[in-house]
Amino acid sequence: MAILVTGGAGYIGSHTCVQLLAEGHEIVVVDNLVNSKETAVKYIKGISGKDFNFYRGDLKNMDLVEEIFDKEKIDSVIHFAGYKAVGESVENPVMYYENNLITTINIINAMKKRNIRNFIFSSSATVYGNPATLPIREDAHLIAANPYGHTKLMIEQILKDLYASDHKWNITILRYFNPIGGHPTGLLADNPKGIPNNLMPYIIQVYQGKLKQVHVFGDDYPTIDGTGVRDYIHVIDLADGHAAALSKMKEPGVHIFNLGTGTGYSVLQLIKAFEKTNKCKIPYIIAPRRAGDIALCYADPSKAEIELGWKAKKTLEEMCKVVFI
Ligand SMILES: NC(=O)c1ccc[n+]([C@@H]2O[C@H](COP(=O)([O-])OP(=O)(O)OC[C@H]3O[C@@H](n4cnc5c(N)ncnc54)[C@H](O)[C@@H]3O)[C@@H](O)[C@H]2O)c1
Repeated sequence: MAILVTGGAGYIGSHTCVQLLAEGHEIVVVDNLVNSKETAVKYIKGISGKDFNFYRGDLKNMDLVEEIFDKEKIDSVIHFAGYKAVGESVENPVMYYENNLITTINIINAMKKRNIRNFIFSSSATVYGNPATLPIREDAHLIAANPYGHTKLMIEQILKDLYASDHKWNITILRYFNPIGGHPTGLLADNPKGIPNNLMPYIIQVYQGKLKQVHVFGDDYPTIDGTGVRDYIHVIDLADGHAAALSKMKEPGVHIFNLGTGTGYSVLQLIKAFEKTNKCKIPYIIAPRRAGDIALCYADPSKAEIELGWKAKKTLEEMCKVVFI
């Protein structure tokens, strides 16, 4: 039996595929490559030395979803596919609702039809909005500040309602904090199409000379140096978290876990760590605060440690290390 990995050519999905294959799982990958390249599929196969079926196509297309479930022997789904840029979601909300919700609903319907009930969903720390207390626990108040966040909250609600309607579902919601870093081979990385939205790929493009300088949005937050603090987690630790969640998928329910390190670093601390690790200078300018940004966000990851036996292991230096091939 195989795990269907949607969005498996993307940043987190590709690293998770490598992890799953290393643990002996069979996988099937589907991706429309809207924010990734087919070479990622080749690299996953090269790194792991294993083969799997890849479907290039859009999960909004129910015919494709049915075809995959008909052809493959799938018993679990890890659903990464979706749009993820906050700013873009504000500019084009309907596109976000359409893509993130319809892909999820199509997959759930195909699973229901075949009595497949193991589902892992990529949620985000964005569902906590501006948290009232830190570190953030899974039972914190949920509120979305933008259309992207709303899609995550809506999907979480759909999954909770689904379980309420049928207690055989085994649903895990993983709320990621800020994944950074890449595969040590240099073959897999956060390499978005267009100008990056996230800080680390932006820093890397400045390092590569593709962009002139990093824009640090706000230096007057109530933090250690005035810049925003986030919980950065190595993508390989995150991939590990999926493998741990999968191996614990025994009891039906909706299981929710934060995947973070529990430690926050400011934007300037991250830039300095990057400079030190890669022996370079990253020019930056201070820009006005961005609407919707918050001062501090870091996880209480203890639930995942207790229940999944998972803990992030990689250091900030490992997260910052750039490998080029
Ligand atoms: N990277 C982050 O900072 C972060 C943080 C929290 C949550 N997440 C969530 O994790 C998931 C994976 O994120 P990522 O960083 O790997 O993003 P990514 O863009 O690298 O990967 C998503 C993949 O899904 C594919 N995709 C999008 N729409 C599709 C569709 N309709 N049909 C088929 N494929 C489609 C894209 O081509 C891409 O390869 C997303 O759901 C994202 O919202 C990401």
